[in-house]
Amino acid sequence: MITVPAPQILSASDDAIGLAAAALAAGRLVAFPTETVYGLGGDATSDRAVAAIFEAKGRPSFNPLIAHVNSLEAAARLVEIGPDARALAERFWPGPLTLVLPRRPDSPISLLASAGLETVAVRVPAHPVALALLQAAGLPVAAPSANRSGAVSPTTARHVAQCLGGRVSLILDGGPCRVGVESTVLDLTGARPALLRPGGLAAEILEAALGRPLLRSTDSPDAPRSPGQLASHYAPAAPVRLNAETAGPGEVLLGFGPAGDAALNLSAAGDLEEAAANLFAMLRALDRPGVGGVAVMPIPEHGLGLAINDRLRRAAAPRT
Ligand code: TXA
Ligand code: MG
Repeated sequence: MITVPAPQILSASDDAIGLAAAALAAGRLVAFPTETVYGLGGDATSDRAVAAIFEAKGRPSFNPLIAHVNSLEAAARLVEIGPDARALAERFWPGPLTLVLPRRPDSPISLLASAGLETVAVRVPAHPVALALLQAAGLPVAAPSANRSGAVSPTTARHVAQCLGGRVSLILDGGPCRVGVESTVLDLTGARPALLRPGGLAAEILEAALGRPLLRSTDSPDAPRSPGQLASHYAPAAPVRLNAETAGPGEVLLGFGPAGDAALNLSAAGDLEEAAANLFAMLRALDRPGVGGVAVMPIPEHGLGLAINDRLRRAAAPRT
């Protein structure tokens, strides 16, 4: 990520949107307005840009991110659009509705953006600046709310500047957000549509449109998968062993820092942002027949290392 002492807040003119689109295409981060809250955007197809988002957010874990696009057609290149998804998208997009859908086999979305999951969250925001930016960039844009982890979501450009400071190079100012709460997150990948996060579009309206009730977290303790936990489901088939210095019999070594005999190296230079960008893609690459176990070298417990270790510990946890 490029950091500057103070972020540049630009009123969202055509020129500013062009600059922001070019920054996104170059792998940099841009904060931009949506109708719900301001997003901290990066190229959703780039593991490096997505790692920079997590770094700027300062999260101790990788939550999957929403891929923002400017049309249903653009979404259809990323995820499988079934009949329910199509009906809801045609009715409520652009708008404060995020749909969790199966990742297409040829989806260009970064595995880090979806935290290694087989699903991807997508939405078309109802804000002219966001739509113009997505159009100009010609990319799906991964964007969590533009706040540091643990802080409230920002609804003005000034909030973003206060919260993220120099961690973002460019903030597009599109005035205060109309909705002010995040989008409703609806998971359409299960047997029943599940409300993962209440938000700007009321659940009752979705139930009326679908003609059936949503599964809610209050229905049963284990029915709807809460997003945070859902993200923990990805783990390679082979056992994962942490803090390894060398591979044992049948194991392959996933390196960090100097490592002569690593099958793959998260970052030979010991760079945590590079390691985060490589994490899910490398775990997946090592998830192949004949691999008896994945031994992972120690990752320092600071910065993005917290989130990397969080995911690795989940992958290494005893399976049930
Ligand atoms: O209104 C919004 O949705 C804003 C604006 C910027 O669009 N974005 C936002 O992003 O709130 P974020 O990252 O703060 O929240 C995304 C939510 C999280 O609860 C995450 O767990 C969930 O969406 N999510 C994303 N991908 C998912 C997936 N594949 N499966 C389940 N939940 C997912
Ligand atoms: Mg958030």
